[in-house]
Amino acid sequence: MTAQKPFYITTPIYYANAELHIGHAFTTLAADTATRYQRAMGREAWFLTGSDEHGQKVEQAARAKGITPLQHTDALVEKFKALWQRLDICYDDFIRTTEERHKKAVRHVLGQLYAKGDIYSDTYTGWYCTPCERFWTEKEVPEKLCPDCHRPVEELQEKNYFFRMSKYQQPLIDYIKAHPGFIRPENRRNEVLGFLAQPLQDLCISRPKKRLAWGIEIPFDPEYVTYVWFDALTNYISAIGYPDDMARFHRYWPASCHLVGKDILTTHAVYWSTMLFALGLPLPEMLFAHGWWVLSGGKMSKSVGNVVNPLDLVEKYGLDPFRFFLFREMVFGADAVFSEESFILRYNADLANDFGNLCQRTLPMLLKRRQGKFRRGPATLPQTAEIAALARAVKADYIAAMEGFLFHEALKRTWDLISRLNKFIDETAPWKLAKEEKWADLDEVFWTVGEGIRFCAHLVQPFMPHTAPKFLEQIGLPATFLPLPQLEWGQLPDGTVCREPSPIFPRLDTPRIESLKKGEKAEKSPKGEKTAPASTGVSPAAGQATGGAPAAPPAAGGATGEGLIDYDEFMKTHLAVAVVETAEKVAGADKLLRLTVRLGEETRQLVAGIALHYTPEQLIGKQVVIVKNLKPARIRGVESHGMILAAGTPDGGLAVVTTDRPATPGIRVK
Ligand code: MSP
Repeated sequence: MTAQKPFYITTPIYYANAELHIGHAFTTLAADTATRYQRAMGREAWFLTGSDEHGQKVEQAARAKGITPLQHTDALVEKFKALWQRLDICYDDFIRTTEERHKKAVRHVLGQLYAKGDIYSDTYTGWYCTPCERFWTEKEVPEKLCPDCHRPVEELQEKNYFFRMSKYQQPLIDYIKAHPGFIRPENRRNEVLGFLAQPLQDLCISRPKKRLAWGIEIPFDPEYVTYVWFDALTNYISAIGYPDDMARFHRYWPASCHLVGKDILTTHAVYWSTMLFALGLPLPEMLFAHGWWVLSGGKMSKSVGNVVNPLDLVEKYGLDPFRFFLFREMVFGADAVFSEESFILRYNADLANDFGNLCQRTLPMLLKRRQGKFRRGPATLPQTAEIAALARAVKADYIAAMEGFLFHEALKRTWDLISRLNKFIDETAPWKLAKEEKWADLDEVFWTVGEGIRFCAHLVQPFMPHTAPKFLEQIGLPATFLPLPQLEWGQLPDGTVCREPSPIFPRLDTPRIESLKKGEKAEKSPKGEKTAPASTGVSPAAGQATGGAPAAPPAAGGATGEGLIDYDEFMKTHLAVAVVETAEKVAGADKLLRLTVRLGEETRQLVAGIALHYTPEQLIGKQVVIVKNLKPARIRGVESHGMILAAGTPDGGLAVVTTDRPATPGIRVK
């Protein structure tokens, strides 16, 4: 293998002044998907995200709460990280601009540029917008309103430090023209060139401490702190070792891609590029500016209160369908309108009907008629060679699309194959072939569809990392993926035996949609039965056998009358953290859910008596604690390998036990 530079991808670092919404989640999920794709291609990848913690907005938000800025950002950073954990973001590093490694790099950059004369002091008069933290020229604010946020601006005069950005205007124009792939998509590149057609002003990079104290002190003037954008942009190099560990820095730099929203393209394309020119460092290979998620009524905004919380959707519909929707629906680079209706439509059409149904339409019949065995014979049906050729073409197009961040294209093309396979089932009507006992043809249909499922599972894996392995498992393969370059049509081994399928994307029918939309917590028991309060009522075994009450521990001693045990005895019970991957009701049992949970590498099925308290959607993706070494039991005909812990709530409900902060799946709880 040739030693390739790792694929280094970044998200913007998010302002630690408010909680994140679907827009921020989108940028981060896009970087996550790109990273997973690179890894699937067998390349090394490094994924950086972080938090932008200085500046006036943060200072003001902290003051309003009566806490220090750092207390404020510490709390928000915890929330950011919890969100990324919940969305299963596979970042490698999280940089905070309040960390010493970052502050040191910023001071170094400032020192370097000051020493070479690219930073100078001057008195500046301008119109200042406090919420946006930026000055405007007289001409830009004829109405004395900020062109960005439309709030009043005030005239300020002060000494400041300036970065000689204008000096690099022409080199930047030349660079962009000579590197057509640098700014993408094409229309954004043209916008930047349009912006650069006007004379570029020098950039004010300081703020007097008397106006703003919360920032990185300018090393050559203690009366000033650094302008928050100059500070923030430096994160892309401070996080990879600049300037202390230049060997590490050069391993990653230049970044393969800075992924940004269209609103912050200028700061990246112009401020950051000229800063890098001044530092004598190469520019990133690509700046990709994606569009915005908007609501049919217009922009999402915290002040209007119409922001979409990504977690609400994930809780209701599951993480992978949410990820899929974002990337299938948005033409990556353009704006897209978000609505729950379009989400549901796409879920039902693409996931439940098309992809999910491939398994549901074939595997039960394969089990019934051919002992579940995929048999590869000579391909004699007219369609199979055509499908093989289509799969090869789809893979090539998929790779081309993914390399160019055209996520929607990659998914669309994958669905061409999925649709073809569904059509193939319609054309060949395997139920008829079975009736007519045309076993060779029937085997060919099953093998082709099974192979198609395997093939598509590989392609969707960067988008749906949790459900893609389930497709492999259902067709009887281990849940491991080949590196994409090795994926070829025809690798489904002859004789593979499929599993009993369970719907991976259960269809959302109208009553279910209605109850999900209302955010109902649990479905009512049809018979109005009292719900099992159960201290650990989740216990599948106890749940069905005793109506929820677990077997009482042996009584004796202690304030509560419980017997005391020593540590070794406690350790006989193996408690472990698990992540719920799928959840569905057990047919004919009101209280039971069949769950699959992931413990590190291992996935297992268990049955929990919590269906009256949790909908499947509320559980998928949740971290729970299970008893790992409980003897397997068969509950209503379903195997259960473990027991979920839960406790009764004051209202007679049930709360599953989870960890206070994200823990490693599979890790022992003690
Ligand atoms: N702190 C700066 C970035 C500094 S990078 C050196 C910042 N932070 S932010 O918290 O405002 O988040 C910015 C990111 O979220 C941008 O990529 C922006 O485009 C994205 N989004 C915020 N709302 C969005 C939508 N409604 N839709 C899609 N993305 C949007 O800017």
